Amino acid sequence: MADFDTIIIGAGPGGYVAAIRAAQLGLKVACVEGRETLGGTCLNVGCIPSKALLHATHMLHETHENFEKMGLMAAAPKVDWAKMQAYKADVVGQNTKGIEFLFKKNKITWLKGWATIPAPGQVKVGDEVHGAKNIVVATGSEASSLPGVTVDEETVVTSTGALTLGRIPKTMVVIGAGVIGLEMGSVYARLGTEVTVVEYLDAITPGMDAEVAKAFQRILQKQGLKFVLGAAVQSVARGKKGATVTWKLKKDDSEAKLDAEIVLVATGRKPFTVGLGLEALGVEMGPRGTVKTNDHFQTNVKGLYAIGDAIAGPMLAHKAEDEGMAVAEILAGRHGHVNYGVIPGVIYTTPEVANVGQTEEQLKGEGRAYKVGKFPFMGNARAKAVFQAEGFVKIIADAATDRILGAHIIGPAAGDLIHEVCVAMEFGASAQDLALTCHAHPTWSEAVREAALACGDGAIHA
Ligand code: NAI
Repeated sequence: MADFDTIIIGAGPGGYVAAIRAAQLGLKVACVEGRETLGGTCLNVGCIPSKALLHATHMLHETHENFEKMGLMAAAPKVDWAKMQAYKADVVGQNTKGIEFLFKKNKITWLKGWATIPAPGQVKVGDEVHGAKNIVVATGSEASSLPGVTVDEETVVTSTGALTLGRIPKTMVVIGAGVIGLEMGSVYARLGTEVTVVEYLDAITPGMDAEVAKAFQRILQKQGLKFVLGAAVQSVARGKKGATVTWKLKKDDSEAKLDAEIVLVATGRKPFTVGLGLEALGVEMGPRGTVKTNDHFQTNVKGLYAIGDAIAGPMLAHKAEDEGMAVAEILAGRHGHVNYGVIPGVIYTTPEVANVGQTEEQLKGEGRAYKVGKFPFMGNARAKAVFQAEGFVKIIADAATDRILGAHIIGPAAGDLIHEVCVAMEFGASAQDLALTCHAHPTWSEAVREAALACGDGAIHA
């Protein structure tokens, strides 16, 4: 008899959620995690610590930018970097301990160590081999390297090193204008670092609605971030006091260099699946090192499943969580499903940027007829009252049926506002359905309703 119904490898948002749901559904569950604490990249060195630093530095920015305007004449606060780091560590600790509590509550066995899969139905941790009816690979991802660049996590860092720098640097080059580059770049820019972002493409945040990306870049520039676009980084050379980043401009092949105390490499992540023994098991792999799975998260090896960053799709904690729940349902003999058409994306800068569904660019590419309703936060009373009137809400609906196809928001609390559109899309709602829903006044959410109204006969306050 197997020791466990299910062994999940990895306790990040995909793995720990799968473990909890599987246990709730009556399965005997173990979860293997080699880190000292549960929660994976997201809780330990990703989403959560970065949000602590983003919050603290946002507060700092508010004191500089808006306090005086509101009649708050306090002296500008001084930054105690060690204390800010301690606050961040405390936030991480509370969250990782919370998962440990949930494991105990749900009677999930935490197998401490790094796992390998010596044979189907077996997981080896340390010297012990544990049997399981089913195994779920939820091992997440790691920063992908860039040719010509050696990361030392001190001077040339990934997001992990960027969260724990020994001091606030005077200068920083960020390679890659994606989510990590812009969130961490914002943190340091607000702390007074001169931040230059070097991006290969001609626009920031690839794949994002082009209008939002443009507005976002303008706002970040106003906040002091500098951008070099259309630039392919060639090398990063370590010097005595920092590093020199060399890039080539795509338009004319000209070369340029910039010295910085710290270089953050944020050029994407890749699945973290090496060392598990997947090759020896004959597990079929997909592009870029992903584990190939079918619609039920099953690999080609019986009883072996995979979810989260290790498989295809956006590398997002909440996508992994949804897959974790779905795979647990499937393993418990139920139906598990993830609607990949309605997975929001959020960048936690100020203002926040959020999106769900399709962009105008995608719809144009598909030759699909659509209409756009837009509403600026300048027309939203609440946003103006709190100096957060930058940005807009954009809702895209099918031209014929009015069904919502996507939403793109840049503005206050965009990462929360997006969810009313997500729910609407899950229910197949039209823009008019949103527009006819009463929204409390004065709230930022009214801007979403106004954008929905703009898909029809027009917004009221624009
Ligand atoms: P990303 O894929 O978002 O952006 C990487 C950027 O680097 C791209 O714009 C790319 O064009 C650029 N790039 C690649 N090679 C380059 C070169 N040689 N020179 C200059 N630029 C180059 O990757 P990122 O920001 O590292 O994030 C990794 C993953 O983590 C993403 O999947 C992201 O969604 C996820 N993540 C999500 C967060 C959130 O949801 N708030 C927060 C942090 C990470």
